[in-house]
Amino acid sequence: MMNSKILIAKAVEAMENAYAPYSSFKVGAALLSKSGRVFTGCNIENSAFSPINCAERTAIFKAVSEGKTDFVRIAVVGGAADSEISNYCPPCGVCRQVLKEFCKPDFEIIVAKNENDYKVMTLAEILPFSFDKREV
Ligand code: THU
Repeated sequence: MMNSKILIAKAVEAMENAYAPYSSFKVGAALLSKSGRVFTGCNIENSAFSPINCAERTAIFKAVSEGKTDFVRIAVVGGAADSEISNYCPPCGVCRQVLKEFCKPDFEIIVAKNENDYKVMTLAEILPFSFDKREV
């Protein structure tokens, strides 16, 4: 079973690949699928700004494009380029909605500063009363 610390380490590694020349804010994510595979992601910016993709969505889209749609948890780290991670980096609203498309309410979101300093929350906690066409 992939533990939280390993997943956080993979998110930190993915953060190195962030392409963030416009914000200078790097984000890394590591998504664990039920099958045990880890899909990593980083934020990828663009000079036109609106095509920017967050680290979390990069990871989810990589997984879905490879046929994996069942997930256990995601670790997310982020911070200013060229400095120590000093804050938690919770997923943005758009990424929360994308997580909801594939994940159950008990899916876990790990926000970390490092392998020893992290919080674990469920999707239901960070996205309450959210849009779901299936519940209408
Ligand atoms: N970003 C993410 O990758 N994930 C989030 O949940 C929040 C924001 C990225 C988008 C942009 O490239 C940079 O962080 C600054 O907003």
